[in-house]
Amino acid sequence: MKNLSFIILVLLVSCTGSHQSKEDQFVQNLLSQMTLEEKVGQLNQRTSQWEMTGPAPESSSDLLEDLKKGNVGSMLNVAGVAETYEAQKIVVENSRLGIPLLFAYDVIHGYQTMMPIPLGESASWNPQLVEESAKAIAEETAAAGVHWTFAPMIDVGRDARWGRVMEGAGEDPFLTSALAVARVKGFQGNDLEETNTIAACAKHFAAYAFAEAGREYNTVEIGDETLHNIVFPPFKATTEAGVATVMNAFNTIQGLPATANSYLQRDLLKGQWNFDGFVVSDWNSIGEIQTHGAASDLKEAAERAIKAGSDMDMEASAYVKYLAELVEQRRVDEALVDDAVRRVLHLKYRMGLFRDPFRYCNEVKEKEVIGSQAIHELSRKVARESMVLLKNEEQLLPLSKDVKSIAVIGPLANDKDVPLGSWRAKAITNSAVSVFEGIQNAVSADVSVQYSKGCNLAINERSFYTELTLSETEQADFNDALDLAKNSEVVVLVIGEDCFQSGEGRSQTDITLKGQQLNLFQAIYEVNKNVVVVLMNGRPVAIPELAQKAPAILETWFAGNQAGHAIADVLFGAYNPSGKLPMTFPRNVGQCPIYYNHKNTGRPNKSDEHVFWSHYTDSPNSPLYPFGYGLSYTTFEYSDLKLNKNEMTTLDSVMVSVKVKNIGERIGEEVVQLYIRDLAATYARPVLELKGFEKIELKAGEEKVLTFSLSAKELGYYLPNGSFQFEKGAFKVFVGTNSQELLEASFIVR
Ligand code: GLC
Repeated sequence: MKNLSFIILVLLVSCTGSHQSKEDQFVQNLLSQMTLEEKVGQLNQRTSQWEMTGPAPESSSDLLEDLKKGNVGSMLNVAGVAETYEAQKIVVENSRLGIPLLFAYDVIHGYQTMMPIPLGESASWNPQLVEESAKAIAEETAAAGVHWTFAPMIDVGRDARWGRVMEGAGEDPFLTSALAVARVKGFQGNDLEETNTIAACAKHFAAYAFAEAGREYNTVEIGDETLHNIVFPPFKATTEAGVATVMNAFNTIQGLPATANSYLQRDLLKGQWNFDGFVVSDWNSIGEIQTHGAASDLKEAAERAIKAGSDMDMEASAYVKYLAELVEQRRVDEALVDDAVRRVLHLKYRMGLFRDPFRYCNEVKEKEVIGSQAIHELSRKVARESMVLLKNEEQLLPLSKDVKSIAVIGPLANDKDVPLGSWRAKAITNSAVSVFEGIQNAVSADVSVQYSKGCNLAINERSFYTELTLSETEQADFNDALDLAKNSEVVVLVIGEDCFQSGEGRSQTDITLKGQQLNLFQAIYEVNKNVVVVLMNGRPVAIPELAQKAPAILETWFAGNQAGHAIADVLFGAYNPSGKLPMTFPRNVGQCPIYYNHKNTGRPNKSDEHVFWSHYTDSPNSPLYPFGYGLSYTTFEYSDLKLNKNEMTTLDSVMVSVKVKNIGERIGEEVVQLYIRDLAATYARPVLELKGFEKIELKAGEEKVLTFSLSAKELGYYLPNGSFQFEKGAFKVFVGTNSQELLEASFIVR
């Protein structure tokens, strides 16, 4: 019966050819039939009872009854064709209008087949590859009956103490914007009606990563100039790219909860940026308006949230409890509810769910697509490009396949689960290829490849403590590893973090390697100098001792299901590493937050005579490894940095060209980076700002001239009031292989 009403509605809409689009007519007609309670139901998002990604709801009303009454517009954490079909059937067959549910899930770096964590994938600096990865992830997710992912997370992060830096694209707004747009395009494709696409969600709006002291969910105190120039650009870029939804943030900004911030959600997002999708709250962030102390009760929290432009309520049950009452008491204008509902209905229409609520439910496709060989091959390709070669003295890498014996040592050396990372959706436990397996697979049978754990990861049931002394069993493991290292030609030492040391709720005050890992390295290095350190971590880690002593260090992040094969591809040179750090690596946690695009300060320069300059007395200011850093097995030479003019007006542009040559022995990829500096502006500008990059492949001896264009868009900046400004004056332009090794030129804007 329900579908008949839709068919009539669709027929009615299709036969009137008025100027209003068929979609608008359909949505408007449907909205006009809805009761206030049914409208509020569309703004209510509930989690499945079998999987939680936040504190369990206290008063979880009878979900089944709510579904039957049409009091739920979307569910999260329901995944799988059978599960989504069952839930959809309840709603479509029992509620009066049968408006289908939207199914959402946190598919952050894979549905079942894990790609590298987003921070790792971002180290590829390859938007095309990132888009390809997101497209494949969307195909797996859609095949599981899920319509919507809560990704990409595009919080620009500068503080390695914050566990969620693993979810983002690092510290720079330009790189984050480019990769965020790539992910949105990959997820959403060109037409959300296609059943191999999913709606994306740009999150968290806004400034969540600026939590004070890197402490999860902490207060955010941030200036408007930083908001407009660092935090907002990726959100503006994804809005321009057509992102279907935006998720707001838990934190306050200058004392105002983001969820209750109408400047953010109405003036900026839906106003200036013309965002036509909808805003979903983060888990209970509407309820937390009261916890912040910005509402006296849940009803007031609901009132503030809807007025501020929070359209859908995730798991606070604030709207379903109080919104109708607020409208009836004329505290909330029903037009605000209508606007929110309209936005939700538009997305359901665009995904074809009114035509067929079960169009994503195809069990044959589910079996074919999920876990396919193709997506695993892509995962290996993405993983290879995500890896960053941090050190390679005496060209220890790539390893020769003629090596006689390899010791694969460390708490992560044969771990098949940690490489899957956190935020792992439906990943299959222990389904990753371990480093030990990858190396065994890469060499011939006559090469001895042996494994020894050496020590624990200093974790216990996913809660963390540091073992100050070796336990009995660990002493035996330690000795076993040393014996193996002594009697092997090469040691591959795999150390780092547990995958759940980063992610949501995983801030740390210490970013060194926990437990006995460093002692294990020191002991091994004493008996065998040929040690390749393979790092697995979800945040920048402070590894000054390794940086000083280890001959070779490969950063692999959490590289996903194909980690072991991809790491072996790089270790043996089947792939020449090309990754560049998307986030600065500090020497120590005391430097956090540390980032390349910092302001100059009034006393930047070192003085030998006195202490009155910007520095620490117990650490250099410089990072251990800078933003944009990453080595290759070959060498790229930069020369001939040229500008087509040394003066320009604010209305034209300057062309920057540079020659890059591969002067090594093997083919390789290089991320050519372009930075600017505005030397004098009304507001102090950063000493460096990334404004262009291009990843190129050059054969041995090959050279290429690259050209970049700089105009107002790249050279201007936002004033604290959000207006864009391009001021005259002196500029510098820099091009190079990372944010510290750069050729430099100057020009004037007249
Ligand atoms: C979590 C996260 C958010 C996620 C949501 C649903 O608390 O903050 O990123 O999408 O809840 O799981």
